[in-house]
Amino acid sequence: MELHQTATAVAPSLRGLPLSPSWETGSPDAMPPATGLQRRIASDTGAPAVKVEGLTKTFGRRGRQVPVFNNINLSVQKGEFVCLLGPSGCGKSTLLSAIAGILPFDKGSVAIDGTTVTGPGADRGMLFQSPMLFSWLTVRDNVLFGPRARGLMKRARAEIGAQADEMLSTVGLHGFGDAYPHELSGGMRHRVAFARALLNNPAVLLMDEPFGALDAMTRSRMHAFLISLWEARRITIVFVTHDIEEAVLLGDRICVFGNRPNGIIKELEVPLGRPRRFEDLEEPAALVTKRSIRETLWAAA
Ligand SMILES: Nc1ncnc2c1ncn2[C@@H]1O[C@H](COP(=O)(O)OP(=O)(O)OP(=O)(O)O)[C@@H](O)[C@H]1O
Ligand SMILES: [Mg+2]
Repeated sequence: MELHQTATAVAPSLRGLPLSPSWETGSPDAMPPATGLQRRIASDTGAPAVKVEGLTKTFGRRGRQVPVFNNINLSVQKGEFVCLLGPSGCGKSTLLSAIAGILPFDKGSVAIDGTTVTGPGADRGMLFQSPMLFSWLTVRDNVLFGPRARGLMKRARAEIGAQADEMLSTVGLHGFGDAYPHELSGGMRHRVAFARALLNNPAVLLMDEPFGALDAMTRSRMHAFLISLWEARRITIVFVTHDIEEAVLLGDRICVFGNRPNGIIKELEVPLGRPRRFEDLEEPAALVTKRSIRETLWAAA
């Protein structure tokens, strides 16, 4: 069954919507394969896409040291979709920021494709709850921000410009390149942020509750969009969420955090096939996984 059919079955609010734009159909066929700069030319070291070893982080607050987590280990394989799930304040965003290279840590190491992280880099795309677009730039210029900032436009303006346009089509925003962020809906703004992150051809996408602020219908559409994007491109994704349903719908594996400073207390493989469908959440295996996560969280609270 096509993803959009399952989406309409489970989310009645989506019923009757036009399904023609590719991002709404959620069909993997609608997503063109990565081409040109977007194809990661594999200097494949065989290393995991993300390797976190012995990570320890303490914040200083009013003269007190507050440990967020001690000795966290996490390994994410290339093309894997891993969700970090846990209660508020347990350190999910802290771990993601450490992987992004935007937050120093006390001990341990983070490596991307076998290369130690020492700061932010174009090999990691980050998406947040707010799409964080530049309001004074057009959609196209927002998408081109990374290559422009890295001086790539001087060398390959036409090629990168064409890739930006292709990326906008991929996320269902063909024809919106000249629009400004305030002229878009919430879901469209998120898709611009996706296009901007993907144009850099990151080794890993780091997503921190990206759909947490969206209404239920837009959120379902973004789930369908993300599932089909992942199916088509097999991007490595680390996705932070509070939401058990969301983690089971999207992830290959779920790392459950206990309360601070316990870090990751349980890891579960999601026992559902691919392509993932909304109705898979009603499978007995999904119900068992959700119950197991809930019990883990309650026991840890
Ligand atoms: N810059 C900071 N200075 C001091 N303490 C901080 C700072 N950032 C985070 N913390 C503390 O670190 C802990 C973990 O925060 P973090 O933002 O990683 O939690 P989280 O799991 O992402 O929570 P949420 O689900 O609410 O986003 C919290 O107790 C928080 O108060
Ligand atoms: Mg957070």
